[in-house]
Amino acid sequence: MKESPEYIAVYGATGYTGTRICDELARRGLDFVAAGRNIDKLQTLSSDIGAEHGIVPTLRQAHVDDERSLDALLEHVDILINAAGPFAEVGRPVVRAALRNDVHYLDTSGEQSHLNWVKSSASDVTDRVIMPSCAFEYTAGNLAADVAGSEGHRSIGIAYHSPGMSTSPGTKRSIIRSIGEPGLTYREGRHESRAVGYRKYRLALPGGQVARAVWIPGGEPLTVPAFADVDTVETSVVLPKIVANLLHRASPVVPGVMRGLAPLLDRAVDLMANNDTDWDDTGNAFQVVAFEPDSGECIAAVSGKGPYTTTARIITETAQRLLDEPPEDGGFCQVPDLFDTSGFAESVGLDVLRP
Ligand SMILES: NC(=O)c1ccc[n+]([C@@H]2O[C@H](COP(=O)([O-])OP(=O)(O)OC[C@H]3O[C@@H](n4cnc5c(N)ncnc54)[C@H](OP(=O)(O)O)[C@@H]3O)[C@@H](O)[C@H]2O)c1
Repeated sequence: MKESPEYIAVYGATGYTGTRICDELARRGLDFVAAGRNIDKLQTLSSDIGAEHGIVPTLRQAHVDDERSLDALLEHVDILINAAGPFAEVGRPVVRAALRNDVHYLDTSGEQSHLNWVKSSASDVTDRVIMPSCAFEYTAGNLAADVAGSEGHRSIGIAYHSPGMSTSPGTKRSIIRSIGEPGLTYREGRHESRAVGYRKYRLALPGGQVARAVWIPGGEPLTVPAFADVDTVETSVVLPKIVANLLHRASPVVPGVMRGLAPLLDRAVDLMANNDTDWDDTGNAFQVVAFEPDSGECIAAVSGKGPYTTTARIITETAQRLLDEPPEDGGFCQVPDLFDTSGFAESVGLDVLRP
């Protein structure tokens, strides 16, 4: 690891999330490198940031299929933030470059398969932080699970609840890939492979309202057992009752159907995408609930507004903390492995509720 981290690079800087991360870095007065595959888009981003914050990022063009361009990008960099997705398709070369070049690595991935691959690829790293999925959903889920674990719960369900959330093209593409593959859940101390919808849950939201959720492959079954004393961690998404029932019944065929439909759905996302990174997400509220999987009792909830804006705050806050106080130990980890839950949540605008 480089002696004291000094410089941050953002790869995928021109996407909806990457743009917000660059804004947040500039708002904090941090110098950084904005990188991506498209130099014209990078130049537009740079003038927008310069006009708004008076900071002009260094620009670097790099391609995921060109190792040398990624190595050149990382030459004077200590912390790499990767926001280029879908990670299941374009994530690995960027992670490999980070591992080769001894930098701290943070990304915004939501695909469990990517998280799992990074976890095994970084299994012998000890001297720098490797933190995939440093984004609103799984970070909120990890924080909620940390609260639940500290209150002695050994069996934890996590439910993502984002009613009416607008999603970027990158998020839509990542969701298509996540549903099209089986994933891992954590039951009775073991990881087991399951298909989307294999289990449905009836849970109480913090206000007492009853919600339905179905299992999806989230990040927490892979991350929570490292920092909480738990036997079971299952992840789910809150859906209207009728959709939850349908998905549960169709569970055995969902991955196959989704894989068959993926090219069509990708095409639909391409047609809908207008490359507009200006829309405001701050009206979108989200909540991630930790609950007891059998009874549905709510244990804790972490809520916020603006999923992408919050993701930018989470990943930037993490990078800034790594700059200010480089940790003595590293390796594959998540926010609760490194920082105090309440203090971190407060610093990124997340509310932690303990009903
Ligand atoms: N789990 C969470 O909580 C969470 C939260 C936020 C974001 N995310 C994830 O973060 C990723 C980005 O999201 P977004 O909102 O920024 O989506 P987006 O607006 O569609 O942006 C996608 C980004 O990836 C880059 N990219 C795509 N394919 C590439 C390739 N082959 N080579 C190099 N760069 C490539 C794009 O570059 P161009 O601009 O050149 O097209 C763009 O910078 C998605 O995978 C999304 O699921 C997850």
